[in-house]
Amino acid sequence: MRSRMAIMSSVRNALPRDRVVLITGASSGIGRATALAFAKDGARVVVASRNRASLDALAKEIGDSALAVTCDVRKREEVRAAVETGVRKFGALHVAIANAGFGIYHSAARMRDEDLEAVLRTNVYGAVYTIQEALPHLRKARGQAIFITSVLGKAVTPGGASYNMSKHALTAYADTLRMEEPKGGIDVIVVGPGQVATDFQKNAGNRFKDFLPARKNAGGWKPERVAKAILAASKRRKREVYLTFEGRALLAIRPLLPGLADRIVRKVSGPLHEENP
Ligand SMILES: NC(=O)c1ccc[n+]([C@@H]2O[C@H](COP(=O)([O-])OP(=O)(O)OC[C@H]3O[C@@H](n4cnc5c(N)ncnc54)[C@H](OP(=O)(O)O)[C@@H]3O)[C@@H](O)[C@H]2O)c1
Repeated sequence: MRSRMAIMSSVRNALPRDRVVLITGASSGIGRATALAFAKDGARVVVASRNRASLDALAKEIGDSALAVTCDVRKREEVRAAVETGVRKFGALHVAIANAGFGIYHSAARMRDEDLEAVLRTNVYGAVYTIQEALPHLRKARGQAIFITSVLGKAVTPGGASYNMSKHALTAYADTLRMEEPKGGIDVIVVGPGQVATDFQKNAGNRFKDFLPARKNAGGWKPERVAKAILAASKRRKREVYLTFEGRALLAIRPLLPGLADRIVRKVSGPLHEENP
């Protein structure tokens, strides 16, 4: 049973039903589904990414409670402008969801500087810019910073060193922010999905020869199911949530039997392919 203190603390911080939620990477996949889920729940949503046409289509589908803003999360000034445009339109910002991200397949041994930089720029700097620019408004609203990391923010797979690094870094940033936040401040929530059926793999870069996963859509959870979990994590003010049965199982086994966990992941991932020169 929840303690009286816990109930009082969640009541204290209850966000209004028509809360304003900024979602980066809302043009497709998890971000798009999350925007739809929050809007259906009564939130006003500021949907951001680089693809104007997809954002406009999403905003039209949602209606008056949505605002589309074009923004490349690698550019702090564009993120700042997106936040300010949202606040000007809706008068506040209660929740910021740093979701924009992508990956590049390559080996750790031959990881190129430009690949590491590209992935960190979007997945780490982009998320940091999003939350930092939103922070004054989130604090004012006693709202929430939500980071979409990955199971790979706590574990790794072969062939994705830069992505693994980016999601570990993001987990560390979120955990540090939470620790520094004053009592009664914002909630810092980490949602780490496992495999989700989006265009992520299709959009990923690829340095391997004949590496099929990079060209087709993945299996895994539907983005709508992930969106539901993100909404639930926000409403229940969870600290962190990891998704998919396989993802949770890996994170449970890894600290206890790291060698076994590595062998399982290597087997599931298959052999590493030869890289293009
Ligand atoms: N799919 C999975 O299996 C999986 C698993 C764990 C975690 N995740 C994480 O979930 C998040 C969403 O991925 P997804 O699966 O939904 O993939 P997705 O369908 O490829 O969506 C990625 C989104 O990020 C946006 N984006 C990429 N670079 C951007 C930039 N520089 N500025 C602004 N927006 C940018 C894209 O929009 P534009 O191209 O329009 O800018 C798109 O809306 C990512 O952070 C990913 O790492 C995915």
